[in-house]
Amino acid sequence: MKPLTYRVNSSRIPVFIGDSDSPMMSQLRSAQRAAVVVDSNVAALYGSMMDEINSIDGSVITLFHASEENKSLDKVEELLTLFLERNIRRDSVLFAIGGGITGDLAGFVAAVFQRGIEYVHVPTTLLAMVDSSIGGKVGVNHSVGKNMIGAFHQPNSIVVNTGFLETLPKEELICGLGEIVKYAVLSGEAFFDFLEKNHVRLLNKERKSLQKIVRMSVETKKRYVEKDPRESGVRAHLNLGHTIGHAVEAATGYNAFKHGEAVLIGLVAEAHIAMHMKLLRASSFERILKMVRRIARQRDEKVPLEDTLGRFIYDKKMKAGKVRFVLPTGIGKVVLRDDVTTNSVVDAMRFVAADGMISLT
Ligand SMILES: NC(=O)c1ccc[n+]([C@@H]2O[C@H](COP(=O)([O-])OP(=O)(O)OC[C@H]3O[C@@H](n4cnc5c(N)ncnc54)[C@H](O)[C@@H]3O)[C@@H](O)[C@H]2O)c1
Ligand SMILES: [Zn+2]
Repeated sequence: MKPLTYRVNSSRIPVFIGDSDSPMMSQLRSAQRAAVVVDSNVAALYGSMMDEINSIDGSVITLFHASEENKSLDKVEELLTLFLERNIRRDSVLFAIGGGITGDLAGFVAAVFQRGIEYVHVPTTLLAMVDSSIGGKVGVNHSVGKNMIGAFHQPNSIVVNTGFLETLPKEELICGLGEIVKYAVLSGEAFFDFLEKNHVRLLNKERKSLQKIVRMSVETKKRYVEKDPRESGVRAHLNLGHTIGHAVEAATGYNAFKHGEAVLIGLVAEAHIAMHMKLLRASSFERILKMVRRIARQRDEKVPLEDTLGRFIYDKKMKAGKVRFVLPTGIGKVVLRDDVTTNSVVDAMRFVAADGMISLT
């Protein structure tokens, strides 16, 4: 299987996209001594894969219960202790098999274990396949905020097996599709058009369409990561939908919406703001809105408006005292603006509520 690759500094990172475990198994077999961290839900669902991994001599396998609470320094320490006790070495390779939580945590362990060991990421959620596994951002949460502790540590390779998506619950699939709609808006006509024509196939988990959309998404993210590996410039565009999305997630205590669902809300709200500021044509706004409606579930979750507005000051994207928004100016075009008024945010939130995506309190 010929992988797609992305380059960061002098490394070329292969991303294998297919529907088999064999690229992972062959890397596991050739690793000196593998440390394998597996999402416990995935391990329970994929018994024969686990049997095959278990049969490899010398590997240290640990199951990890994926939750935001467990994406913590305590868990990092627990894994570091286990690996030290079980003689994982500097030339060992860590394999992370799971969604974004498992990848972020295990990747961070790989970044700090003996100042950094190689790791291979095997994403098992759509979100991890198209987003979190690509680009080398790894880390854990702190009680002060999510993802506050971390590193840039690129994987040695990423192995996508879309077969894993067969068991992924629908709401997790939608979560990945939220980021995919974002890529479509960032990328342009060809991607957006593909999504308009294939969203039903994707929601039905048709493998060919899934593989194609994963490839297109990885290619989109790759362009930003290669230009800006440490997220100091253009990679900020990937935050489209996230300024409002994060505020909504935070204001609802991170338990009303899945991240990707919040991003879909953010995409519509931010496109509405762009239209309000005469940066985006009404016809392009309508296309984005229709696309989101096809993907998002109608929800009636209560979102406190005042609290949502107050959350912006905690946003990591706040520059020099102002909140920086990524606003779409067309399909395939965005601008960074720090002159968005509170009124236009309120209008956008009211629009999203009138459309049935949330209810405002
Ligand atoms: N590093 C980055 O650049 C980056 C980017 C985006 C998001 N993230 C992080 O990713 C995390 C979210 O990742 P996620 O959405 O993959 O969540 P997740 O890892 O929690 O997985 C979601 C749920 O699906 C289960 N699951 C995983 N694979 C499965 C499968 N094949 N079949 C059935 N169930 C399966 C998991 O056990 C979990 O319950 C967040 O912590 C976020 O901060 C990181
Ligand atoms: Zn996101």
